[in-house]
Amino acid sequence: MPIPKAELHLHIEGTLEPELAFQLAHRNNITLPYPDVQTLRDAYSFTDLQSFLDLYYRLMDVLRTEADFHDLATAYLTRAAAQGVRHAEIFFDPQAHTQRGIPLETVIDGLTSALDTSLQDHGISTHLILCFLRDQSAQEAMDTLDAARPHLHHITAVGLDSAEVGNPPEKFTEVFQAAADLGLRRVAHAGEEGPATYIWNALNHLGAERIDHGIRCMDDPELITHLATTQTPLTVCPFSNVRLRAVPTLDQHPLPAMMDAGLLVTVNSDDPAYFGGYVHDNYLGLQHHLGLTDEQLRTLARNSFTASFLTPERRDALI
Ligand code: ADE
Ligand code: ZN
Repeated sequence: MPIPKAELHLHIEGTLEPELAFQLAHRNNITLPYPDVQTLRDAYSFTDLQSFLDLYYRLMDVLRTEADFHDLATAYLTRAAAQGVRHAEIFFDPQAHTQRGIPLETVIDGLTSALDTSLQDHGISTHLILCFLRDQSAQEAMDTLDAARPHLHHITAVGLDSAEVGNPPEKFTEVFQAAADLGLRRVAHAGEEGPATYIWNALNHLGAERIDHGIRCMDDPELITHLATTQTPLTVCPFSNVRLRAVPTLDQHPLPAMMDAGLLVTVNSDDPAYFGGYVHDNYLGLQHHLGLTDEQLRTLARNSFTASFLTPERRDALI
Protein backbone atom coordinates (compact mmCIF):
# COMPACT_ATOMS: atom_id res chain seq x y z
CA MET A 1 0.00 0.00 0.00
CA PRO A 2 1.49 3.37 -0.99
CA ILE A 3 2.50 5.61 1.91
CA PRO A 4 -0.26 8.09 2.94
CA LYS A 5 0.51 11.52 1.59
CA ALA A 6 -0.89 14.88 0.51
CA GLU A 7 -0.67 16.14 -3.05
CA LEU A 8 -0.13 19.90 -3.17
CA HIS A 9 0.78 20.56 -6.80
CA LEU A 10 -1.76 19.09 -9.16
CA HIS A 11 -3.47 20.82 -12.08
CA ILE A 12 -6.86 19.16 -12.51
CA GLU A 13 -6.73 19.89 -16.25
CA GLY A 14 -3.40 18.04 -16.31
CA THR A 15 -5.13 14.84 -15.21
CA LEU A 16 -7.04 14.57 -18.50
CA GLU A 17 -6.01 11.14 -19.77
CA PRO A 18 -6.22 10.56 -23.55
CA GLU A 19 -8.97 7.94 -23.06
CA LEU A 20 -11.16 10.43 -21.18
CA ALA A 21 -10.35 13.16 -23.71
CA PHE A 22 -11.74 10.94 -26.49
CA GLN A 23 -14.82 10.02 -24.41
CA LEU A 24 -15.60 13.67 -23.71
CA ALA A 25 -14.93 14.65 -27.33
CA HIS A 26 -17.45 12.02 -28.41
CA ARG A 27 -20.01 13.15 -25.83
CA ASN A 28 -19.64 16.77 -26.95
CA ASN A 29 -19.52 16.11 -30.70
CA ILE A 30 -15.97 17.39 -31.03
CA THR A 31 -13.45 15.96 -33.47
CA LEU A 32 -9.98 15.85 -31.94
CA PRO A 33 -7.07 16.47 -34.32
CA TYR A 34 -5.73 12.97 -33.48
CA PRO A 35 -7.11 9.73 -34.98
CA ASP A 36 -6.85 7.67 -31.77
CA VAL A 37 -5.67 7.46 -28.17
CA GLN A 38 -2.24 6.13 -29.03
CA THR A 39 -1.49 8.89 -31.54
CA LEU A 40 -2.49 11.46 -28.95
CA ARG A 41 -0.31 9.82 -26.30
CA ASP A 42 2.57 9.77 -28.79
CA ALA A 43 2.24 13.56 -29.06
CA TYR A 44 3.25 13.85 -25.38
CA SER A 45 6.85 14.58 -26.18
CA PHE A 46 7.83 18.00 -24.97
CA THR A 47 10.87 20.23 -25.41
CA ASP A 48 10.02 22.81 -22.74
CA LEU A 49 7.13 24.24 -20.71
CA GLN A 50 5.60 26.11 -23.67
CA SER A 51 5.49 23.04 -25.91
CA PHE A 52 3.53 21.26 -23.17
CA LEU A 53 1.22 24.22 -22.51
CA ASP A 54 0.29 24.39 -26.21
CA LEU A 55 -1.13 20.84 -26.09
CA TYR A 56 -2.52 21.21 -22.56
CA TYR A 57 -4.64 24.22 -23.53
CA ARG A 58 -5.69 22.70 -26.88
CA LEU A 59 -6.93 19.46 -25.33
CA MET A 60 -9.02 21.34 -22.75
CA ASP A 61 -11.47 22.08 -25.54
CA VAL A 62 -13.20 18.77 -24.72
CA LEU A 63 -14.17 20.13 -21.27
CA ARG A 64 -17.51 21.82 -21.91
CA THR A 65 -20.16 20.85 -19.34
CA GLU A 66 -20.51 20.52 -15.58
CA ALA A 67 -20.55 16.72 -16.08
CA ASP A 68 -17.20 16.91 -17.91
CA PHE A 69 -15.53 18.69 -14.98
CA HIS A 70 -17.20 16.31 -12.54
CA ASP A 71 -15.93 13.27 -14.44
CA LEU A 72 -12.43 14.74 -14.74
CA ALA A 73 -12.20 15.31 -10.98
CA THR A 74 -13.70 11.89 -10.15
CA ALA A 75 -11.18 10.13 -12.40
CA TYR A 76 -8.33 11.95 -10.64
CA LEU A 77 -9.64 11.17 -7.15
CA THR A 78 -9.99 7.49 -7.99
CA ARG A 79 -6.39 7.31 -9.20
CA ALA A 80 -5.10 9.46 -6.33
CA ALA A 81 -6.72 7.20 -3.72
CA ALA A 82 -4.86 4.22 -5.21
CA GLN A 83 -1.62 6.26 -4.89
CA GLY A 84 -2.07 6.81 -1.14
CA VAL A 85 -3.31 10.42 -1.40
CA ARG A 86 -5.32 11.43 1.69
CA HIS A 87 -5.48 15.15 0.99
CA ALA A 88 -5.24 17.06 -2.29
CA GLU A 89 -4.89 20.79 -2.93
CA ILE A 90 -6.04 21.05 -6.51
CA PHE A 91 -5.23 23.82 -9.00
CA PHE A 92 -7.63 24.88 -11.70
CA ASP A 93 -7.23 27.45 -14.48
CA PRO A 94 -10.50 29.41 -14.78
CA GLN A 95 -9.24 31.69 -17.56
CA ALA A 96 -8.44 28.70 -19.79
CA HIS A 97 -12.16 27.90 -19.70
CA THR A 98 -13.90 31.28 -19.50
CA GLN A 99 -11.89 32.50 -22.50
CA ARG A 100 -13.44 29.64 -24.51
CA GLY A 101 -16.93 30.67 -23.45
CA ILE A 102 -17.37 28.18 -20.59
CA PRO A 103 -18.99 29.96 -17.62
CA LEU A 104 -16.99 29.96 -14.37
CA GLU A 105 -20.03 28.42 -12.60
CA THR A 106 -19.89 25.39 -14.91
CA VAL A 107 -16.26 24.79 -14.00
CA ILE A 108 -16.64 25.31 -10.25
CA ASP A 109 -19.97 23.48 -9.92
CA GLY A 110 -18.64 20.52 -11.90
CA LEU A 111 -15.45 20.26 -9.89
CA THR A 112 -17.07 20.79 -6.49
CA SER A 113 -19.81 18.24 -7.19
CA ALA A 114 -17.01 15.67 -7.21
CA LEU A 115 -14.83 17.22 -4.50
CA ASP A 116 -17.66 17.73 -2.00
CA THR A 117 -18.10 13.97 -1.54
CA SER A 118 -14.44 13.06 -1.99
CA LEU A 119 -13.78 12.37 1.70
CA GLN A 120 -16.66 9.88 1.87
CA ASP A 121 -16.14 8.42 -1.61
CA HIS A 122 -12.33 8.28 -1.78
CA GLY A 123 -10.98 9.05 1.71
CA ILE A 124 -9.42 12.25 0.34
CA SER A 125 -10.03 15.73 1.74
CA THR A 126 -9.58 18.48 -0.83
CA HIS A 127 -8.97 22.18 -1.27
CA LEU A 128 -9.30 24.15 -4.50
CA ILE A 129 -6.66 26.66 -5.63
CA LEU A 130 -7.67 29.18 -8.27
CA CYS A 131 -4.72 29.93 -10.55
CA PHE A 132 -4.17 33.06 -12.60
CA LEU A 133 -2.53 32.62 -16.00
CA ARG A 134 0.67 34.67 -15.80
CA ASP A 135 0.94 35.04 -19.60
CA GLN A 136 -2.36 36.97 -19.55
CA SER A 137 -2.74 40.53 -18.25
CA ALA A 138 -2.92 41.59 -14.60
CA GLN A 139 -6.35 43.09 -15.36
CA GLU A 140 -7.65 39.73 -16.58
CA ALA A 141 -6.42 38.15 -13.35
CA MET A 142 -8.26 40.80 -11.35
CA ASP A 143 -11.44 40.25 -13.41
CA THR A 144 -11.15 36.52 -12.70
CA LEU A 145 -10.86 37.13 -8.96
CA ASP A 146 -13.90 39.40 -9.12
CA ALA A 147 -15.90 36.78 -11.01
CA ALA A 148 -14.95 34.19 -8.39
CA ARG A 149 -16.32 36.23 -5.47
CA PRO A 150 -19.65 34.36 -5.26
CA HIS A 151 -17.71 31.06 -5.09
CA LEU A 152 -15.06 31.90 -2.51
CA HIS A 153 -16.49 29.42 0.02
CA HIS A 154 -15.18 26.72 -2.35
CA ILE A 155 -11.72 28.25 -2.76
CA THR A 156 -8.82 28.09 -0.32
CA ALA A 157 -6.02 29.85 -2.18
CA VAL A 158 -4.89 31.59 -5.33
CA GLY A 159 -1.95 30.47 -7.42
CA LEU A 160 0.01 31.58 -10.47
CA ASP A 161 0.85 29.32 -13.39
CA SER A 162 1.42 29.07 -17.17
CA ALA A 163 4.42 30.43 -19.13
CA GLU A 164 6.90 31.64 -16.54
CA VAL A 165 9.84 33.29 -18.29
CA GLY A 166 9.02 36.92 -19.13
CA ASN A 167 6.01 36.95 -16.79
CA PRO A 168 7.55 37.72 -13.40
CA PRO A 169 5.53 37.48 -10.17
CA GLU A 170 5.47 41.23 -9.51
CA LYS A 171 3.12 41.66 -12.50
CA PHE A 172 0.44 40.24 -10.17
CA THR A 173 1.18 42.07 -6.91
CA GLU A 174 -2.17 43.86 -6.85
CA VAL A 175 -4.38 40.83 -7.47
CA PHE A 176 -2.51 38.76 -4.89
CA GLN A 177 -3.03 41.58 -2.36
CA ALA A 178 -6.73 41.64 -3.24
CA ALA A 179 -6.89 37.86 -2.77
CA ALA A 180 -5.21 38.12 0.63
CA ASP A 181 -7.71 40.83 1.62
CA LEU A 182 -10.48 38.33 0.78
CA GLY A 183 -8.93 35.82 3.18
CA LEU A 184 -7.39 33.56 0.53
CA ARG A 185 -4.04 31.81 0.96
CA ARG A 186 -1.32 32.41 -1.67
CA VAL A 187 1.00 30.15 -3.65
CA ALA A 188 2.88 30.71 -6.91
CA HIS A 189 4.83 28.75 -9.48
CA ALA A 190 8.36 30.15 -9.47
CA GLY A 191 11.79 28.87 -10.36
CA GLU A 192 10.55 26.10 -12.67
CA GLU A 193 12.15 27.53 -15.83
CA GLY A 194 12.47 31.06 -14.48
CA PRO A 195 15.40 32.31 -12.38
CA ALA A 196 15.85 32.35 -8.60
CA THR A 197 14.90 36.05 -8.58
CA TYR A 198 11.34 34.99 -9.49
CA ILE A 199 11.23 32.97 -6.26
CA TRP A 200 12.40 35.98 -4.23
CA ASN A 201 9.76 38.11 -5.97
CA ALA A 202 6.97 35.58 -5.40
CA LEU A 203 7.82 35.70 -1.68
CA ASN A 204 8.37 39.43 -1.39
CA HIS A 205 5.78 40.84 -3.82
CA LEU A 206 3.02 38.21 -3.77
CA GLY A 207 3.33 36.98 -0.20
CA ALA A 208 3.52 33.41 -1.51
CA GLU A 209 3.33 30.93 1.38
CA ARG A 210 4.49 28.02 -0.78
CA ILE A 211 6.58 27.97 -3.91
CA ASP A 212 5.47 25.61 -6.68
CA HIS A 213 8.51 23.90 -8.22
CA GLY A 214 11.22 26.24 -6.86
CA ILE A 215 14.06 24.03 -8.10
CA ARG A 216 16.04 27.01 -9.38
CA CYS A 217 16.55 28.15 -5.77
CA MET A 218 19.60 25.89 -5.91
CA ASP A 219 21.31 28.58 -8.04
CA ASP A 220 21.21 31.09 -5.13
CA PRO A 221 22.85 30.16 -1.80
CA GLU A 222 21.29 33.13 -0.01
CA LEU A 223 17.83 32.01 -1.17
CA ILE A 224 18.48 28.43 -0.03
CA THR A 225 19.35 29.75 3.43
CA HIS A 226 16.25 31.94 3.49
CA LEU A 227 13.89 29.13 2.39
CA ALA A 228 15.45 26.69 4.85
CA THR A 229 15.30 29.16 7.75
CA THR A 230 11.68 30.09 7.10
CA GLN A 231 10.75 26.48 6.21
CA THR A 232 8.85 27.78 3.19
CA PRO A 233 7.48 24.68 1.43
CA LEU A 234 8.50 23.83 -2.12
CA THR A 235 6.14 21.64 -4.17
CA VAL A 236 8.60 19.80 -6.38
CA CYS A 237 7.44 17.72 -9.38
CA PRO A 238 10.26 15.41 -10.50
CA PHE A 239 8.61 13.69 -13.52
CA SER A 240 7.39 17.07 -14.77
CA ASN A 241 10.87 18.59 -14.50
CA VAL A 242 12.35 15.80 -16.61
CA ARG A 243 9.55 15.76 -19.23
CA LEU A 244 9.74 19.55 -19.63
CA ARG A 245 13.53 19.43 -19.62
CA ALA A 246 14.02 21.68 -16.63
CA VAL A 247 16.26 18.83 -15.40
CA PRO A 248 18.09 16.53 -17.87
CA THR A 249 17.32 13.16 -16.22
CA LEU A 250 15.74 11.91 -13.01
CA ASP A 251 19.17 10.72 -11.85
CA GLN A 252 20.32 14.35 -11.94
CA HIS A 253 17.30 15.79 -10.14
CA PRO A 254 18.31 18.25 -7.35
CA LEU A 255 15.74 16.88 -4.87
CA PRO A 256 18.27 15.03 -2.67
CA ALA A 257 20.46 18.14 -2.52
CA MET A 258 17.38 20.20 -1.64
CA MET A 259 16.56 17.85 1.23
CA ASP A 260 20.18 17.89 2.40
CA ALA A 261 20.05 21.71 2.43
CA GLY A 262 17.22 21.55 4.99
CA LEU A 263 14.46 22.69 2.63
CA LEU A 264 10.84 21.72 3.26
CA VAL A 265 10.46 19.69 0.08
CA THR A 266 7.31 17.89 -1.08
CA VAL A 267 6.85 15.60 -4.08
CA ASN A 268 3.93 16.02 -6.46
CA SER A 269 2.74 15.07 -9.93
CA ASP A 270 1.87 18.45 -11.58
CA ASP A 271 0.11 17.15 -14.74
CA PRO A 272 0.21 13.39 -14.30
CA ALA A 273 -1.68 12.44 -17.47
CA TYR A 274 1.06 14.14 -19.49
CA PHE A 275 4.21 13.35 -17.52
CA GLY A 276 4.13 9.59 -17.12
CA GLY A 277 2.84 9.06 -13.61
CA TYR A 278 0.83 10.06 -10.57
CA VAL A 279 2.27 11.13 -7.23
CA HIS A 280 3.29 7.76 -5.83
CA ASP A 281 4.89 6.94 -9.18
CA ASN A 282 7.06 10.02 -8.59
CA TYR A 283 8.05 8.71 -5.14
CA LEU A 284 8.97 5.34 -6.67
CA GLY A 285 10.93 7.01 -9.47
CA LEU A 286 12.97 8.93 -6.91
CA GLN A 287 13.64 5.77 -4.95
CA HIS A 288 14.69 3.90 -8.07
CA HIS A 289 16.80 6.60 -9.76
CA LEU A 290 18.19 8.48 -6.79
CA GLY A 291 18.31 5.78 -4.15
CA LEU A 292 16.05 7.61 -1.71
CA THR A 293 15.62 5.55 1.44
CA ASP A 294 12.30 4.56 3.00
CA GLU A 295 13.07 7.06 5.76
CA GLN A 296 13.52 9.86 3.19
CA LEU A 297 10.22 8.91 1.52
CA ARG A 298 8.53 9.03 4.92
CA THR A 299 10.01 12.51 5.46
CA LEU A 300 8.62 13.63 2.08
CA ALA A 301 5.17 12.28 2.96
CA ARG A 302 5.27 13.98 6.39
CA ASN A 303 6.38 17.22 4.72
CA SER A 304 3.37 17.04 2.40
CA PHE A 305 1.00 17.25 5.36
CA THR A 306 3.10 19.89 7.13
CA ALA A 307 3.10 22.05 3.99
CA SER A 308 -0.66 21.73 3.42
CA PHE A 309 -3.36 24.24 4.28
CA LEU A 310 -5.15 21.64 6.41
CA THR A 311 -6.46 22.58 9.82
CA PRO A 312 -4.06 21.47 12.58
CA GLU A 313 -6.64 18.88 13.70
CA ARG A 314 -6.90 17.03 10.39
CA ARG A 315 -3.18 17.45 9.77
CA ASP A 316 -2.34 15.86 13.09
CA ALA A 317 -4.81 13.05 12.37
CA LEU A 318 -3.09 12.33 9.05
CA ILE A 319 0.59 12.59 10.01
N1 ADE B 1 0.15 24.70 -15.94
C1 ADE B 1 0.02 23.37 -15.88
N2 ADE B 1 1.20 22.81 -15.59
C2 ADE B 1 2.09 23.80 -15.43
C3 ADE B 1 3.47 23.87 -15.10
N3 ADE B 1 4.20 22.78 -14.87
N4 ADE B 1 4.06 25.08 -15.04
C4 ADE B 1 3.34 26.18 -15.27
N5 ADE B 1 2.06 26.17 -15.59
C5 ADE B 1 1.43 25.00 -15.66
ZN1 ZN C 1 2.35 23.17 -12.02
